[in-house]
Amino acid sequence: MKVCVIGSGYVGLVTGSCLAEIGHTVTCVDSNEQKIAMLQRGAVPIYEPGLEELVARNVAAGRLAFTGNITDGMAGAKVIFISVGTPPTPSGEADLSFVEAVSTTVAHGLKDYTVVAEKSTVPVRTGERIKQTITRNNVNNVEFDVVSNPEFLREGSAIEDFLAPDRIVIGVESERAEAIMRELYEPIIKRNSYEVPVIVTNVNSAELIKHASNSFLALKISYINAVAQVCELSGADIEKVAEGMGLDKRIGRSFLNAGAGFGGSCFPKDVAAFYQISKQLGYDFELLRHVLEINDCQKQMPVKKAKQALWVLKGKTVAVLGLAFKPNTDDIREAPAIHCIRALLAEGAAVKAFDPQAMARARALFPGIQYCADPYECVQDANAALVMTEWDDFKSLDFPRVKSLMKHPIIIDGRNMYKPEIMREMGFEYHSVGRR
Ligand code: UDX
Ligand code: UDX
Repeated sequence: MKVCVIGSGYVGLVTGSCLAEIGHTVTCVDSNEQKIAMLQRGAVPIYEPGLEELVARNVAAGRLAFTGNITDGMAGAKVIFISVGTPPTPSGEADLSFVEAVSTTVAHGLKDYTVVAEKSTVPVRTGERIKQTITRNNVNNVEFDVVSNPEFLREGSAIEDFLAPDRIVIGVESERAEAIMRELYEPIIKRNSYEVPVIVTNVNSAELIKHASNSFLALKISYINAVAQVCELSGADIEKVAEGMGLDKRIGRSFLNAGAGFGGSCFPKDVAAFYQISKQLGYDFELLRHVLEINDCQKQMPVKKAKQALWVLKGKTVAVLGLAFKPNTDDIREAPAIHCIRALLAEGAAVKAFDPQAMARARALFPGIQYCADPYECVQDANAALVMTEWDDFKSLDFPRVKSLMKHPIIIDGRNMYKPEIMREMGFEYHSVGRR
């Protein structure tokens, strides 16, 4: 099937490359000329395990191409995905102006019956607006359907998540559109040994499945982080508590990792957007506000602990191990480490940082801090070290060497990577989350 993906950021690029991989002919479009030029010369502008090879293989096979022009990209496409950014406005509401602009351009370019599918995370009832926009600008008066097809991929495992999904959600208003979307995903259903659940519902419900799912996962994280606060005050161990909770199949252990808070391009933005759209619809979803408040407190915790340990931060050197919002990505959007660096600099501390993938992106934000070649250079002469991303690189550090390099062997572990008793036996002053 011929497919067009408009918006070749994280989600668009993974979506387009995976659809090509399962046999469709895909054109990815983006308004960022530099990005398209990079992609046309075979370079991939983001770090995602396996993506470079996937793009190269499918470009070579003639199934994947890139253009900066929507009309060219959508020519002959049976399905057009909209995966442009839906960034937050100051109120937290989702900015849908890019979605509207793209819908208008698509309307002008329609020639034959086409399915226009939402891939970007959008508030409920956005599909109605897209339909209205296309109808108003449908110069050739062509039949079309708007579909909601949210993605659930996680950065760092995006290709696996797309090709072996927990479920495929399709929000449609017609059997014709449903048939085309089922045909599109048939190869994914066939290639997996387990039965891939396909949920077919109306557009509004599909849109809400995405916001509700992301917000529930964020809620689970804020819940365990709140419990971690109680653990610190009572002398309990959050890891044991999470283990005990997680063995209850109704709860599950996943997403009960206490730490320095959730970041990324999705959770913070989607929880805020879900809260705003609920309010507009007349429901004050207070719980979501608390999810964000707990997360904001959690992001401030590592620097608070550094201050408790070092008294005065001004003039001190603090090492930050990990900048990305999670491992296996170079994405620093809403990363807790970024919040911590801002707070450390505001206190007058000097910051040394190391991350296996995300330093180039952090350099654009903080040109004035020291970026190091490895974790050891990073902790050299540091008064304390913050561990902010649970990269494998940090799992088996040579701790006697770390201790010998630091000015003070103080470690604040924002991801509970190490065992408190072992760290203390090695002579570190060790602070973590929800444990004493
Ligand atoms: C995006 C959405 O932001 C997110 O809500 C959704 O869940 C998934 O898609 P992501 O791919 O991470 O997430 O966004 P981003 O990396 O910002 O990519 C958006 C791309 O759209 C950018 O490459 C941007 O250049 C492009 N774009 C934006 C267009 O091509 N045209 C536009 O009009 C606006
Ligand atoms: C998330 C959703 O998981 C995915 O389904 C959706 O499509 C996009 O948003 P992503 O943002 O890539 O994916 O990362 P995720 O693995 O969910 O982690 C999000 C944040 O939560 C990270 O900062 C991570 O460190 C944090 N986290 C995750 C915790 O603090 N504790 C946990 O137990 C799990």
